[in-house]
Amino acid sequence: MTSGTSRRLPDFPWDSLADHAAKARTHPGGVVDLSIGTPVDPVPELIRHALGTVADVPGYPTTHGTPALREAVVGALARRHGVTGLDPAAVLPTIGSKELVAWLPTLLGLGPGDVVAIPALSYPTYEVGARLAGATPVRLADGEPPPPGTSLVWLNSPSNPTGRVLSDEQLARAVADARAVGAVVASDECYLALAWDAQPVSVLLPSVNGGSVDGVLAVHSLSKSSSLAGYRAGFVTGDPALVASLLEVRKHAGMIMPRPVQAAMTAALNDDAHVAEQRERYRARRAVLLPALTAAGFTVDHSEAGLYLWSTRDGENAWDTVGWLAERGILTAPGTFYGPTGDRHVRIALTATDSAIATATTRLTP
Ligand SMILES: Cc1ncc(COP(=O)(O)O)c(C=O)c1O
Repeated sequence: MTSGTSRRLPDFPWDSLADHAAKARTHPGGVVDLSIGTPVDPVPELIRHALGTVADVPGYPTTHGTPALREAVVGALARRHGVTGLDPAAVLPTIGSKELVAWLPTLLGLGPGDVVAIPALSYPTYEVGARLAGATPVRLADGEPPPPGTSLVWLNSPSNPTGRVLSDEQLARAVADARAVGAVVASDECYLALAWDAQPVSVLLPSVNGGSVDGVLAVHSLSKSSSLAGYRAGFVTGDPALVASLLEVRKHAGMIMPRPVQAAMTAALNDDAHVAEQRERYRARRAVLLPALTAAGFTVDHSEAGLYLWSTRDGENAWDTVGWLAERGILTAPGTFYGPTGDRHVRIALTATDSAIATATTRLTP
């Protein structure tokens, strides 16, 4: 039996990779899986330690998170991204950012008749979240304003899957366009700390939001910057009234970050050294893989930041490129997972160990 809700959702994209995964696994040297962006490096010791410090606290944690956690968010955003003037009360921890992305339209009270605007090429969960609420997702081309009647606009710079970085001006235009139709802006900034050839900025900066966070939310994740995907650690912040209403609903719904994760996240946000170290690991992997792809005849588009190389083999069909790479024991994701206009690209993740990246490079060498 299937539920009405599951019928509203698309097929899970990665299920359709099964045949290519099987093919890649037959490579004598084993598969190098670059199809998903899951961290592989150790969780920093200071974070593991913090997790254990509250292992023996039996009571419920608060949905709003500890004051220390919210202060740590404000401090980290100021040090790392130049965001000032943020009220700690307007910070809300989330159980990773995927659940917030999937439930934000519902938490905001959107439903049938509401439009949720998402980038033409984007993280699949934006569409899923719109459909869970019964709202209508609409894909916008680069720079295209949302149609009248749009209630929520998702922005994502640096982008998954393209690694594209929007300038202050481009983001400011997107925020103004969303405000013009009365839509909330949710800016997914989970790759903000992972920049290579361009400097991404937060929607919380006055140069982007015009000095007011009215109707603006910034969505952050520690999964990639602190290798904490397994802990499920994220937060949302921005417009105090919007965050207060999200908090209210999440309190009722039991969407509470576990206390050990709150403690771990506080420690992670108070330390920038491990973020810099992790960034260097990814930078080094990118420096090896990108030229190998180019030498093998690929063109890597955008990919100025974030954890993916948005690659095309001379405009070949995405699934043919996935197949070509699978023959060489390398598993990647077709661009169509992210939107119909991704049909000539594959997304190649940098989230593999140094030795796996070296193996992939050898296999790509003509
Ligand atoms: C653009 C984007 N947003 C959100 C997420 C969710 O991350 P998490 O739930 O681990 O915080 C991802 C994960 O890959 C992502 O690529």
